[in-house]
Formats: sequence, structure tokens, C-alpha cells
Amino acid sequence: MSRLLIQNGTIVTGEDQYAADIFIIGEKIHAIGLDLGHRFSVSADEIVDATGCYVFPGGIDAHTHMELPLKATTASDTFASGTGAALIGGTTTILDFANQVPGKTLKAALKDWHAKAKGKAVCDYGFHISVTDFTDRTRREIAECIKAGVTSFKTFMAYKGALMLDDGQLLQVMEEVKKQKGLVLTHAENGDLINFLIEKYRKAGSLGPKFHALSRPSIAEAEACSRIMDLARLADCPLYVVHLSSGDGLGRLAPKLCNAEKRAPLIAETCVQYLVLDDSRYSQRGFEGAKYVLSPPLRTQSDQKHLWAGLASGMIRVVATDHCAFTMAQRRLGVKDFSKIPNGVPGVEHRMELLYSEGVHRGRLTLQQFVNITSVNPAKIFGLHPDKGSISTGADADLVVFDPNEKHVISANSHHMNCDYSIYEGMSLTGACRMTILRGKVVVRRGKLLAPAGYGKFLPRKKFEY
Ligand code: URP
Ligand code: ZN
Ligand code: ZN
Repeated sequence: MSRLLIQNGTIVTGEDQYAADIFIIGEKIHAIGLDLGHRFSVSADEIVDATGCYVFPGGIDAHTHMELPLKATTASDTFASGTGAALIGGTTTILDFANQVPGKTLKAALKDWHAKAKGKAVCDYGFHISVTDFTDRTRREIAECIKAGVTSFKTFMAYKGALMLDDGQLLQVMEEVKKQKGLVLTHAENGDLINFLIEKYRKAGSLGPKFHALSRPSIAEAEACSRIMDLARLADCPLYVVHLSSGDGLGRLAPKLCNAEKRAPLIAETCVQYLVLDDSRYSQRGFEGAKYVLSPPLRTQSDQKHLWAGLASGMIRVVATDHCAFTMAQRRLGVKDFSKIPNGVPGVEHRMELLYSEGVHRGRLTLQQFVNITSVNPAKIFGLHPDKGSISTGADADLVVFDPNEKHVISANSHHMNCDYSIYEGMSLTGACRMTILRGKVVVRRGKLLAPAGYGKFLPRKKFEY
């Protein structure tokens, strides 16, 4: 078994930060303490000097879409390319969405996603499942998914005619998932309202990318947040709202997010793009605005302030990416009609560094908040803790050696995602991942990916506990 000693770093956990060394045997953290060199340097295969660096628990991106078939195409990052980019950016685990094809089974979706990932993924991964067609058969399959370690179920209130469930179906999913001790995740946007606006713009000949954003105003998110919260209350079902994008949406959820009751909890996730980019991107010349077509769309700077405040106050507990990359050629499928642009943005590589730079470095988040939002909270919520999201003896040795002072600039010329542009092109960041360790193995050293294909492991997850 390999033996790795990390010396002289500052360990950061969700509660604390302290100077200590870490000794790893095989895949697990064996010891944490001051001056471990005296005891272990002789037997170590490698000694990493982390002087001046933080040591974070490996990042967990709770929301990604690798190889997702969407509209007339498939997301351009495979499990190989997307998870490699994740590791380079300090994310050691992703939770990807296996989408049920309407009319087909949940089992078929899981089989499909296992085939996409197995032997290719280089970071660890788990699956959520997107329930897009609820029947008696689907109801019976929920217990089977949970037994197979897939314990969270996404429902859509948008994408009418494709993925959307109506309120009755949403309630039925909640009833069953609660019974089986899983967690319901919801894409909260009002699909009817959006379709009404899409048709209105199309009839008026308003077909450019910015009309994607205008057809999905924040009121569509706010209304859906209120409704899904009420449905969850009726079903007494734990609920996790994905990719929250607006101050209006947060405002609707806030009373319940602030009042932790004994009843089923409500949890909110946002994504890094909503924190650092705004809707002025849709005014870029020509078809450039298509790069930012995602659902929900980018919002205003005022929305960003609300989301940062939501993170700082603990109302929003997770920052993910909703990574779903499409190349410019794929975006052009909607060059004559914004509703045909495949939606989703690339970002899995930059979540940790963006959040550190824009959050911790700029004084909006403490180091502990950063670690909780990027790793500890998703590990706890999604049944991976304490193996993941924890720097403690016996935990998986998933660690990031992070230099808080290194400056760098994001560019498509140097990123590792399979996409020919970056939505963060030219952004200067302070703080960089120097090394990523996954289950005791150095998988990235100074930006170079060292993990062999298929090193990533499927993670069966525990039931939802509250
Ligand atoms: O535009 C997005 N977010 N694409 C990915 C699918 C989803 O709704 O999360
Ligand atoms: Zn969604
Ligand atoms: Zn998504």
C-alpha cells in the first residue's frame, strides 16, 4: 500500500483551521498531527511540502451532466474529459444525473449512466436520477434505486412536453421518495409560464439568444419555489431545490430555510455561474450570448448579492456547477431560434478556484464556509459523509493542496473541459489548486492529470437522514 505524507500545510475543515501534517496509507487518512515527519517520513513513499498552502477536503460537485442527451444533441464532456477537468480544479467527486427517458424505466437510465462512466471516469462519482415519467412502475422502482445506492430523485417543473411533471405527479414522487427515505431534488421554474413566453417571442420574430433569458424571468422561478415548497409541506417530504438563481426565488424559500423545524427539511443549492456572471452577457454581439444559455438563465447583479448573502447566512448550503457543456457548433443548432439552443454551461473545472477567489479572497465567505459549501455539506446531504467531505482519520484521503496566493487567468486555451470557449474567459483569480489527491493517490500535480482512465469509483450512497 502506498504511503504519502503531507507536511507543513494548514488543514481547513468545516469548523476549524490548524497547522498539521497528514499521513495517508493506501486510500485512507491514517494520522493527523503536528510533526508527523518524526514518525512517518522514513516509511513514506512520497513527502509533499504544503508550506504556505491550505489543505481542503476534496471538492464535491453535487450537480453535473456528463454526456447528457439534450434537445438534438449530447453534452460534449464525457465522463473521461469532464471528470479529468474536475480533478484538475480540485473536485474529487461528482454527482451526475441519470435521466429517465420518458416511457422507459429508471433501471434503464441507471444502466445507461453506469455504462457511460465505468472504466472512464477518473474522479469518484455517484448518480441522482431524473424522474421524467411517473407511473406505477416508476413508483416501484424508487425502492430499487435506493437499494442500488441512488438515493436522490430530480423532478422538473419546467421543460413542458419533455421532462416536466405536473403537480399531481410531483406529489406522487414525493410521497414515495419520502416513504423510501430518499431526497427529492427539484428544478423550480414554471414550465407553462415559460412556454407561453417562448411562443410569444417566437411569434414576434424575437429569436436571438437573449430571448432565452427573457422567456425565463425570475418570477417563473419564484412561483415554482413557492409551489414546490407547499407541495413538499403537504407531503412532509425533504426537498432540495437545485440551481437557485434569483433573489426572488430565495425570498420565497427564505422563511422555511431560516426556520429549521422538526418537519422535513428544505435545502437550497446555487451554482457558481449565478454568483459571478450576470445577464449583461446576453447583450454580447451576434450569437455570442448563446454561450450563456442555461436554465434558469443568468440574472442581475442584485440577484448575485442576494445569493452571496444567502451563502454567508447559511440559507444556501451547496454551490454546484450544473456542468453541461456544449460546443459553439452545438449551440448553433439554435442560431435561428433560441428555443433550440442546447442549454447548459461548462464549469466543473473552475468551481473551487472561482469560489475561493470571488468568495474567500474577496471577503464574502470564511474559509470554513467555503469548505462547507464545496464539500462538507454535499457529503452530508447526499449520504457520503464521513468517507467524503472530511479530513479525519479513517476518511478517504481526498485532499486538495491549495495555494491561496497563486494568480492565474481562466481561458479556453488552457482549460481541460471539452468545450471551445469558456464562459469565464479572461477572469483573473487568486488561489489555485496545486495538487489533488483522490483516495490516497496524487491524481493532479500542478495542472497535470495523472489518474489512469477508470480510476474513478462509483459511490453507492446512504439514505437521506434528518
Ligand atoms: O440549462 C441547464 N441547466 N441544463 C442542464 C439541465 C438542467 O436543467 O439542470
Ligand atoms: Zn435543472
Ligand atoms: Zn442540471
